[in-house]
Amino acid sequence: MIMERKGKPLTLGVFSRRKAQGEKIVVLTAYDLTSALIANAGGVDAILVGDSAGMVVLGYESTLPVTMDDMVHHCRAVTRARPQVPVIGDLPYGSFHLTPTGTVRHALRLVKEGRVSAVKLEGGRKRADHIQALLDAEIPVMGHLGLTPQSVNRFGGYKVQGRGKEAAAALLEEALFLEEAGCFAVVLECVPAKLALEISTRLGIPTIGIGAGGGCDGQVLVFHDLLGLFTGIKPKFVKRYAELGTAAVKAVEKYAAEVRDGTFPGPEHEYGEGSSPAESGSDPGDSPPSGYLGHVDPDKD
Ligand code: KIV
Repeated sequence: MIMERKGKPLTLGVFSRRKAQGEKIVVLTAYDLTSALIANAGGVDAILVGDSAGMVVLGYESTLPVTMDDMVHHCRAVTRARPQVPVIGDLPYGSFHLTPTGTVRHALRLVKEGRVSAVKLEGGRKRADHIQALLDAEIPVMGHLGLTPQSVNRFGGYKVQGRGKEAAAALLEEALFLEEAGCFAVVLECVPAKLALEISTRLGIPTIGIGAGGGCDGQVLVFHDLLGLFTGIKPKFVKRYAELGTAAVKAVEKYAAEVRDGTFPGPEHEYGEGSSPAESGSDPGDSPPSGYLGHVDPDKD
């Protein structure tokens, strides 16, 4: 697989530019080198290293246990892929709930160690001081409203937010606040499509929807959901563009059968005694495809 991307590298400016030009913004989560390479080559506009990593990679039942160390680890793996798009790191639960100084300290880890260009945090007005402190530290902030998964205990489950006149007005007010506060974009998760469209129309900054309908300025999906790799739950808003989980199980079954019946490895997978150029250099299968980092063939100098 050649994992190259055409065109100029994108910066965070892509968010405002796309909105100004009426073009949709495509965001996808990634958590490691491979998912970042795939997202980059697939032509997304930005990568979000979401704390959804806690559920689709680390096996937790919610995002609440995710730590700063987890997020730094995943952000580092993603940015090592050197994607040509901005990478946004999610601030995990507990990392922006105490003092604004603590929030900046945590976000700086994502920037300095994780090499991200911006951070995302859940919540509106009650995070005002934290957002201001981040912006004062030159860290761009993406907001996140609606079904904010870190509030699952307060919500009493994963429920659509902003239903009914009062709740809708409150959500719109929070979104307007985030724009005023200086966020460069806001994720709207699981809110009625009509409300998301109204918010998108009222805001000068882009809205990025997930379960918020087609009226948002952009969309974000979780990598494993899009590819059918995480099949535990399938919320209504998920569209699977592939069934890689099923394909992967089939591939592993085939591998297991071939090891057991001696078909794998075949002669074409074996190394000879010497390592002549003819043996190691003439087969394109020996060369890592460009864009694939760190793949070393032990038969090469
Ligand atoms: O953690 C995450 O992946 C997210 C997106 C679903 C918006 O917050």
